Amino acid sequence: MNYLKEVVILLLGPYLILLCRRVSGEQISSKGVINLAHRQSKWTPLMQMSANLSDITSIRSFFEFRTLDPEGAVFYGDTKEGQDWFVLSLRDGIPEMQIGKADILVSVKGGRKLNDGAWHLLELRNEGKFVVLEVNNKVELVVGLHSKLVEDDLTGKIRLALGGMLVDKQKLFHPFEPEIDACIRGGHWLNLSTTWDTDSTWEPRPCFSEIKKGSYFPGTGVAMFNTSDLPGLKTEEAGITVEIFGSWTGTMLSLQSTGFEYILAVLDGNKDVKEVQLGLKEGSESVALPREPETLTFTILKHSLVVNSVTELEKESLDFFSMWKKGMLLTFGGVPGDSEKAKSTHDLRGCLEKILVQGQVIDLDRALYKHTAVSSHSCPTEAMNELT
Ligand SMILES: *[C@@H]1O[C@H](CO)[C@@H](O)[C@H](O)[C@H]1NC(C)=O
Ligand SMILES: *[C@@H]1O[C@H](CO)[C@@H](O)[C@H](O)[C@H]1NC(C)=O
Ligand SMILES: *[C@@H]1O[C@H](CO)[C@@H](O)[C@H](O)[C@H]1NC(C)=O
Repeated sequence: MNYLKEVVILLLGPYLILLCRRVSGEQISSKGVINLAHRQSKWTPLMQMSANLSDITSIRSFFEFRTLDPEGAVFYGDTKEGQDWFVLSLRDGIPEMQIGKADILVSVKGGRKLNDGAWHLLELRNEGKFVVLEVNNKVELVVGLHSKLVEDDLTGKIRLALGGMLVDKQKLFHPFEPEIDACIRGGHWLNLSTTWDTDSTWEPRPCFSEIKKGSYFPGTGVAMFNTSDLPGLKTEEAGITVEIFGSWTGTMLSLQSTGFEYILAVLDGNKDVKEVQLGLKEGSESVALPREPETLTFTILKHSLVVNSVTELEKESLDFFSMWKKGMLLTFGGVPGDSEKAKSTHDLRGCLEKILVQGQVIDLDRALYKHTAVSSHSCPTEAMNELT
């Protein structure tokens, strides 16, 4: 376990340094294209702004929004330093609003699924005691809220934030996974011309012009899971299967535990076959895989590891089932900590359309650690042409 902790610290090290090096933040035009993905921390908003309530002429914000991600934080607003707050998120692709005001907590979900990869115009506004959400100029959700405990006062500050919240997640009525792979453009925020403040750890990233479903690994960065958080064994005969669909080259995955490391890489072979290189740290073996269909099935049996029905490793001394249950590191896209060393392996480059563990879809937003360069729910269509 100590070994695993070291790996985690190694990975998070640069990130902690970045956090400590907080200097004055950058300012981003509120009307431009904003990529909500690729952030360093889960709940801290990507950007925020604040204004005096007395300056607000219109309690209305609208923006275009595009995602393929089913869940995450989109837009947040509060007054009274977070005593009264509001958050718009997605759950199962459907908009959900949660509001906290005095002693009231509200959660409402409804309307059409928005995670279809198309741009949608979202509008949020206050109409007296109601909050209204419009999608593509059609009213989709209306929430009314009244508390006898509070007087509405129009002094003080209003804060807005994108891709996170400024209050503790414990305040949520219905918890959700905040990370979202989404883009926003053409925003109008309460008719303010204020710019967004970001912190210096944020690296602006462009939005792909055309997207398709999948997780995109650009050639740097990994996504790491603790296997004890993933679906477990059903039957010993079937073992544990990891299925990967897509188009890629480089190191697909690695499996690590105390004193054990396994790396599965896919190197570009000739036209018809892709070479798959496997191995423990020292020597490695190769097996040819057909190029079509590009599916990789990695099966973990009690004492062996199997790739597309070919047994690649047998170790009677290891019990992979109990190691899986206790918690190994399963890393997609490379080997944890490798980027600090000389590049001995090639990080994954390509689009993983789907990753299944025991038949269940794996969401990279739920990884223990995901590098900010990896897109959890969208692949650029243009880069894929380049690859093939
Ligand atoms: C808000 O009002 C305070 C004093 O009333 C003022 O000092 C401050 O600059 C104002 N902030 C903005 C963003 O206008
Ligand atoms: C928005 O702001 C502009 C200029 O600041 C102002 O002329 C306009 O009336 C405002 N619109 C609304 C709906 O308040
Ligand atoms: C993985 O999960 C197990 C069980 O929850 C835990 O004991 C272990 O420390 C975790 N490993 C890492 C690297 O987080």
